[in-house]
Amino acid sequence: MSALPNVLGRPLARRLLLAAASAIAIVAVVAVRTGAGSDVPPADDGTATASPDRIILSPAADTATSQTVTWRTDEATQEGEVQVAPADDPDQVRTVEADASVAERLPNSRLSARHHSATLTDLEPSTAYTYRVGHDDDFSPWTTFTTAPAADSTDPWTFLYFGDAQWGLDAGWSSTVDQAFAQYPDARIALTAGDQVNDGNDDHQWEQWFEAVAPWASTRSFLTVAGNHEHYGDEQTVRYRSHVQYPRNGPEGQDDLTYRVDVGDVRFITLDGSITGGPSDPTDNGLGALQAAWLEQQLADNPRTWTVVTIHQPMFSAAKLRDNLAQRTAFLPLLEQYGVDLVLQGHDHAYARGHLAENDVAGGYSGPTYVVANAGDKYYDLDPAGRNNWTINDAVRDAAADKISTYQAVRVEGDRLVYSSYVATIDDSGVGTGPLPQGLAPGELLDTVTVTKAVDGRPFVPR
Ligand SMILES: [Fe+2]
Repeated sequence: MSALPNVLGRPLARRLLLAAASAIAIVAVVAVRTGAGSDVPPADDGTATASPDRIILSPAADTATSQTVTWRTDEATQEGEVQVAPADDPDQVRTVEADASVAERLPNSRLSARHHSATLTDLEPSTAYTYRVGHDDDFSPWTTFTTAPAADSTDPWTFLYFGDAQWGLDAGWSSTVDQAFAQYPDARIALTAGDQVNDGNDDHQWEQWFEAVAPWASTRSFLTVAGNHEHYGDEQTVRYRSHVQYPRNGPEGQDDLTYRVDVGDVRFITLDGSITGGPSDPTDNGLGALQAAWLEQQLADNPRTWTVVTIHQPMFSAAKLRDNLAQRTAFLPLLEQYGVDLVLQGHDHAYARGHLAENDVAGGYSGPTYVVANAGDKYYDLDPAGRNNWTINDAVRDAAADKISTYQAVRVEGDRLVYSSYVATIDDSGVGTGPLPQGLAPGELLDTVTVTKAVDGRPFVPR
């Protein structure tokens, strides 16, 4: 099995594996129907082997001096290690044993896969390292990552932000990621706003997601967020949580989906918008309130100049007739009170950016900038410019477009953040009803704002 990808190439190997899996499934179904072996679970289409794959970097607690890497093997491969050396002194290799090894098993699945994770420590800030992961004779190719800048670094750096992948993982999503990294090859971090896949329990979709990001996920940290679709078919998000590891510094009981990392002079906070409770009362199960209390701690005790919050479900919806009252009730007052600079969101399969109307001041607005973006092949329509989820909730929708997927770059330049959104794909029916210029082509600038700090420390965005 482990030689298949090398001998046959991934597409053919995948078809054979799928055919084999289907055959097993048919046998299993027949067995159940005949009453023989009725406890045999359905087969999975996992393709894990002893050779590491799905290698992804993620930040550890101290991003400037440590780095977490996670990878997958078959379940039988119980151990793993990272070999790492400074890129400018590759003979100085040290070995770090994996500190987590988790067999991924969903109910009714007999997928054989194991996820390994290791955190490299005692690294130097803004320094390149070469590394490989594996065990015995099965190692990944050597590749390179660069640690995050120190908190006091004034060197400009860039992070990317992507909306939902979800549909078209081997088409639109793959193209969006390719375009973004082609334009920003030096981007240090990629932030995703949830719904990586359409069905959280579908390993084939995860394979496609990883194939799209493979060239970059092993060389830059990914900051992912769980969307509602990570829960589909996988209520406990086993697959999502197995594939990538983050510092467990979120609120108690939610610290596997909610976390904070500081990179350079930016604090990144992720929220899990899928656990806020009922649609009208975010405190009805206590989870929204618990997360809001944790959010306030991260905002009140924040030594960094800039703050970026990511949540899948947006405070103000881009898509027609959508609304997220529970999330808005739980989190919007805190985002406003503490002057979060950027709130980066997904879920709506359209593009929108705006701010709260009460923040309008001479020459611009002083307060958070809210963005909704889309990165895959699923498209929803916008509400009209004159009346939409922003206007009916006392906000201003400054920019909007539908039938479009985009990628965003945020350049951290010391005393300002430069946010830019670019067209990745335009749906066949063309740019929809948004007020942005028509006729844009992939790679062209869709929308941009520059965030600075007002004298009171709140973000200021000029008009
Ligand atoms: Fe969603």
